[in-house]
Amino acid sequence: MNFLITGGAGFIGGNYCHYAVEKYPQHHFICFDALTYAGNLETLEPIMNKPNFTFVKGDISNAEDVENVFGKFDIHYVINFAAESHVDRSILDPGLFLKTNILGTQVLMDACIRHKTIRFHQVSTDEVYGDLPLDRPDLLFTEKTPLNPSSPYSVSKTSADLLALAYHRTYGLNVTISRCSNNYGPYQFPEKLIPLIIDRALHNKPLPVYGNGLNVRDWLHVYDHCTAIDAIVTKGKTGEIYNIGGHNERANIDVVKTILDVLDKPYSLIEYVKDRPGHDARYAMDPTKIRTELGWDPVYTFEKGIVPTVQWNIDNRKWIENIQSGEYLNFMRRQYGD
Ligand code: NAD
Ligand code: TYD
Repeated sequence: MNFLITGGAGFIGGNYCHYAVEKYPQHHFICFDALTYAGNLETLEPIMNKPNFTFVKGDISNAEDVENVFGKFDIHYVINFAAESHVDRSILDPGLFLKTNILGTQVLMDACIRHKTIRFHQVSTDEVYGDLPLDRPDLLFTEKTPLNPSSPYSVSKTSADLLALAYHRTYGLNVTISRCSNNYGPYQFPEKLIPLIIDRALHNKPLPVYGNGLNVRDWLHVYDHCTAIDAIVTKGKTGEIYNIGGHNERANIDVVKTILDVLDKPYSLIEYVKDRPGHDARYAMDPTKIRTELGWDPVYTFEKGIVPTVQWNIDNRKWIENIQSGEYLNFMRRQYGD
């Protein structure tokens, strides 16, 4: 079988390529990625020469690029990781998010229909549900929680989910959707909280914590996200949505302090900065459906996963420094000031 892995040069797609190429030598994985600021071929170096892996540069929102890759390879499965993925960037520049995340998904699904693809899997996010109040720890997102996205990023992801469900109902496209909580692990772009904090703490730079630091995220190691997607693509039912999470809720300030503890750095590096506009208070997933119906379980608790993640960031300084190019520095200046 041939799998098209879009966004496979990014954080989660890259980890998925590593995982799948190793686990399924009998299948061929074609990574299709536009190599935006977030895409990095160095992430794919360890598998680039494997016989069951091919890299193709292309844009999911460009119908010609997509048709070319479908025409060249007989694509049986599509797993769509490709997206603009950073909430803060979506606040600065929403248009690109709508183009890539919504129109790109439409272009891909049109190609799936034309080429009679077996399955289109949409990689989505818990952010489609909006946020939960901090004073109701009993509440969790289930697949039936009403959609209530708050940022341009989460609106674009919600729209893509709805479009995928419309393609399933209207055209009979075999579609599954996964909605995962915040990920962390190797190869994460250092604009996201955890790698940003590790990198800055290693350089003894101030650590920007938005608002009062009490916003809560539900953290899942990227390896567990990969095994969950694998379970859905191989065993999930068409037209179904699966929430993915491992009950690892942490306030941002506690995440930052944990990283400082692992690095043996002082809490005095923490600097409270202006809050993110519209900042979601709390995300928390109920993964009962994927656990009971597909037998999936995560292997990492946050405490178990954060230590090797910090170590990866220490051991892979070259990967991180190569990313910190002009584009990255421009964004950092725009977001955090000088
Ligand atoms: P990322 O930003 O690290 O990587 C995105 C990849 O998509 C990059 O390689 C980029 O080059 C590629 N890309 C962007 N636009 C493209 C286009 N038009 N055509 C082809 N490729 C394009 O993102 P990530 O954190 O790995 O997230 C992957 C997916 O998982 C996204 O759909 C995101 O919404 C979802 N998700 C992320 C998280 C998280 O915590 N990071 C949690 C839940 C869901
Ligand atoms: P982020 O990694 O951007 O993921 P998301 O917005 O998709 O949840 O941010 C995680 C949390 O950390 C979020 O509540 C915002 C907060 N945050 C900071 O406090 N400081 C920062 O510099 C960043 C990037 C995020």
